[in-house]
Amino acid sequence: MSQRMHAPTRRLVLLVVGLAAVATIVGIGRGAVGAEEREPRIVNGQPAVDGQFPWQVGLFIDADLTPGGSGSICGGSLIEPNWVLTAAHCVVDSGTVAAPAQLTVFAGELDQLSAGDTGQQLGVTSVIVHPGYDASVSENNDIALLELSSAATLNSVVDTIALASGGALEAGGVTATVSGWGTTSSGGSTSPTLLYAPVDTWTNVDCNAPYGNQITANMLCAGGAPTNTTDSCQGDSGGPLAVEAQTYGWTLIGVVSFGNGCALPNVPGVYARVSQYVTWIQANTAGATLSITPNTAQVGGGGGGSGAYPVYVPIMRR
Ligand code: ARG
Repeated sequence: MSQRMHAPTRRLVLLVVGLAAVATIVGIGRGAVGAEEREPRIVNGQPAVDGQFPWQVGLFIDADLTPGGSGSICGGSLIEPNWVLTAAHCVVDSGTVAAPAQLTVFAGELDQLSAGDTGQQLGVTSVIVHPGYDASVSENNDIALLELSSAATLNSVVDTIALASGGALEAGGVTATVSGWGTTSSGGSTSPTLLYAPVDTWTNVDCNAPYGNQITANMLCAGGAPTNTTDSCQGDSGGPLAVEAQTYGWTLIGVVSFGNGCALPNVPGVYARVSQYVTWIQANTAGATLSITPNTAQVGGGGGGSGAYPVYVPIMRR
């Protein structure tokens, strides 16, 4: 692996208090925080730094906490201190919903799994799969909620993310960011460290071409550039596709769902479209005070997008 050390970025400077812990987490042997990897990641992504995606959680299924072990990994997003949004297919196997005891959530981690460091290991107390989830045909409504047995403690590396709302993002052309510990190529190995990459959103009309008209209104496509394409891949499922909205901050627009291969030119990844589920999420997280970004918010600064796209709508958090 070719790695290159370079000075901490401005972001890292801001996170200087956490650096000692970060050095421990990331492991000096693998190069200091900020070391730049030249190999493909997520697919063609880069390593995240501590606190960059504080809403990202890792979800271990069958409580097998061994990377590459018999259990499997998915991603998820913290939308409340005690609620995680993930993909239905992460927690449903041949029509059977995973028991809460089979699931373990990690928050505040860069390492795929390193119990015992600064991350938080959290149990699950209930699994709520969207009633319209269609595993057999379309993967429509590939979304699920996990209630945590105890709330995550919010800090500089663990935080919630707002939800996109309204009928926005339909125009495509917004640069979003996807993150996860999934494979760095189709059929490859999962990544030991959290990776992220920019992916541009498509209109559903355009996305129906590479996907033979199987894209429903509950899906959102992103990635699939003609060249140098980035994408999510196996193991990223359930994880966040997010944009940074002016005033409202980072906002979840998609949940990694499926794709034809990974990072194939002109073939985007497919995500559950979060804005379609705000009502369902509110109804199933009774008592939660969700943050919702209005569809009038402007997107900018996120994955390097050009900004000024009318996008969404809200729920403000506390
Ligand atoms: N279904 C995969 C998972 O379970 C996610 C695949 C995403 N594929 C893509 N090309 N974006 O992890």
